[in-house]
Amino acid sequence: MQSELRSPLVRQTVREMEAYAPPEDPQRLARVLGVPVEQIVKLDANENPYGCSPRVAEALGQCGGYHLYPDPDQEEARHLVAAYAGVEPAQVMLGNGSDELIDLLMRALLDPGDELLDFSPSFAMYAFNAQHYAARVVEVPRDEAFDIDPELAFRVASLRTRLALVAAPNNPTGNPVRPEVLERLLEGGWIVAVDEAYAEFCGTSFAPLVRERENLVALRTFSKWAGLAGLRVGYAILPQGLAAHLWKLKPPFNVNVAALAAAKATLGDLDYLRANIARIVAERDRLIAALAGVPYLRPYPSEGNFVLCRVVGRDAFQLRQALVQRGILIRHYRHPRLRDCIRISVGRPQDTEALLAALSSW
Ligand SMILES: Cc1ncc(COP(=O)(O)O)c(C=O)c1O
Repeated sequence: MQSELRSPLVRQTVREMEAYAPPEDPQRLARVLGVPVEQIVKLDANENPYGCSPRVAEALGQCGGYHLYPDPDQEEARHLVAAYAGVEPAQVMLGNGSDELIDLLMRALLDPGDELLDFSPSFAMYAFNAQHYAARVVEVPRDEAFDIDPELAFRVASLRTRLALVAAPNNPTGNPVRPEVLERLLEGGWIVAVDEAYAEFCGTSFAPLVRERENLVALRTFSKWAGLAGLRVGYAILPQGLAAHLWKLKPPFNVNVAALAAAKATLGDLDYLRANIARIVAERDRLIAALAGVPYLRPYPSEGNFVLCRVVGRDAFQLRQALVQRGILIRHYRHPRLRDCIRISVGRPQDTEALLAALSSW
């Protein structure tokens, strides 16, 4: 009753929005299937199957200061992150995951009716988040190989275009962005935000270019390569003109004390984490080869820690449901170009084995 009375007060754009469909909770699935949660094979959110550095637990045990607010200027963390990313501390802003930085960029750039270029299919959060600002999402369809045609972007862009979000490598398709494509997009004059959530798995980054291009932003995260998805810490590398405005919008204490301590411990243990990245990359290539041997699957190449597969002659959603019944979580999409696809995150070798056994028994 109360919600009915109050709902007319909610902004129209919010009333009309659909809720975001997050990945399934493994605890809930374990309860439904009546198995321990350790038996769930979680390959649906591109998390790091090896977890974070053991130094994170040590750091959290020792860090204390939980009763005090974190440093709103993030000074120590910005210096450490800048050294890691090869940029200047003044260019760096940390966020509560890179999701928060995507939101802050949109808050800074998009008035109602302004346009966002979305190179679809891509990370669903871009189009979803743009709704908060009543912005117009202009789809720029990728080609057959999921590459971006920058000329298409220029054809659909207008005077209201403010932001282009470019995932590199792209999620869920796994392909990288060619430097000449990015260069051409930058000529549009819009802010081009290159989302490098998976950069550590492909080994290339456009971050050093931010210093030279006033409309380029790079977004990075500790969620994937560093295994810190649960602590929520990402960062943006910003051009000078934009940085000052984003700092006005950033909630003062957006990255918590534990997340800052974890990021610091992570950056002190890079060899350990790089060894895990190498294991994930090797397992990804093994997974792609194995999936290519499944008669009804056509895996795409990937430079991320996940593999997109087309399902031929069978229903992709039913396959996803069948795997869920066997305790294996993968992603299926409602996007028209991906309805016959599944995305599988790279797990440990035993996760691959469990998946392959389930695929062959289906
Ligand atoms: C392309 C891309 N960008 C950003 C994110 C969000 O990362 P974070 O955990 O840092 O919010 C994801 C998460 O899946 C992603 O795939």
